[in-house]
Amino acid sequence: MSSESTASSIAEIDLKALLSNLQQIRKQIGDREILAVVKANAYGHGALPIAQYLNQHLSKPPLWAVAFLEEGIALRSGGISGPIILMTGAPLAQVKEIVAHDLCPVIYDAETLQALSRTAMAAQKEIAVHVKIDTGMGRLGILPEKALTFIEAAVKTPGIRLDGILSHFAHPDLADAEFTGGQLHAFQKVIHALEQKGIKIPYRHMANSAAVVGFKDAYLNLIRPGLMLYGYSNIENRKAFRLAPVMRVKARVIALKTMPAGTSISYGRTYFTQQESRIATVSLGYADGYPCSLSNRSEMIAQGQRVPVVGRVCMDMTMVDVTSVPTLKVGDWLTAMGVEGEQSIWADQLAKWADTHPYEILCGFGPRVRRHYIS
Ligand SMILES: Cc1ncc(COP(=O)(O)O)c(C=O)c1O
Repeated sequence: MSSESTASSIAEIDLKALLSNLQQIRKQIGDREILAVVKANAYGHGALPIAQYLNQHLSKPPLWAVAFLEEGIALRSGGISGPIILMTGAPLAQVKEIVAHDLCPVIYDAETLQALSRTAMAAQKEIAVHVKIDTGMGRLGILPEKALTFIEAAVKTPGIRLDGILSHFAHPDLADAEFTGGQLHAFQKVIHALEQKGIKIPYRHMANSAAVVGFKDAYLNLIRPGLMLYGYSNIENRKAFRLAPVMRVKARVIALKTMPAGTSISYGRTYFTQQESRIATVSLGYADGYPCSLSNRSEMIAQGQRVPVVGRVCMDMTMVDVTSVPTLKVGDWLTAMGVEGEQSIWADQLAKWADTHPYEILCGFGPRVRRHYIS
């Protein structure tokens, strides 16, 4: 826990909201298990504190999904003992460390399978893997027509335990129902063909957050949400699911001055005051994750009132017109993302202003924004 008194900007992480989001999900999915996506530092929320908190507060903790080796090692070293899935795979140069830390890579090629097998055997271990099938994402995975041969070989490979099979939707918001349904169908066909050959893989997973909210058929026996854990849904029914955003971001007012009408503000002189205006400089910029594309487009909240961002967002600072909040003073906080009284600005709103999606907004808040965990 770090103190607010010296911070320039703060990301408050509401751990109770996180737990409540997870409980909402649990209500929906029955006895299926959850693979919590905590890659990219848990979408900016802090992977280790998030995993530690959930581990402590759930009788059945989820499995964990990260992208890269370093993220997996950080969780293991922080005392997370459950399965940690490496979603991008196992580069040959990392196989030794993956085996040493008992991480579980996603695999999709024979060379990696053999390298993992040799290393696991040498360490007198069995390494768990999940096989990825590319049903239409065009990114990682074996094509469905090649899956059977690969998996038949994998289950016979010494030192390898085939724990899971997965695929991934190309539309994170399930926008094209026909294509999305076709992907699930292709995945189910592979699972079915394997079962016909007597191969039943323990974990079968494809459902991201949008599928958890809107596509029950895709649940299979393990769901794999990221965004909704942090309080958002990209299919517009966050309220129906009672998700609560977990992160709020506040920035400190570090300077305040009254400018005459016609004064230009910030780099490039893209904004001119229309009348005498009180301009606050706050300590949050694009190097902290407040995107430059919010220049002259977004708002913050000061003492419960919406106030406009004026001029270009700088690397470390942003200017805000606070003429309507005469009692604001240097040292006070503005809410860049969050709620104050009647007003709220969340990552999905910032994403609309910035022409991006809430994932990029959340992941963007960097280490200079001091994390403050509230439970
Ligand atoms: C392979 C994979 N599975 C699951 C997820 C989680 O998706 P969401 O955050 O939309 O739930 C991601 C997110 O990028 C992903 O890449």
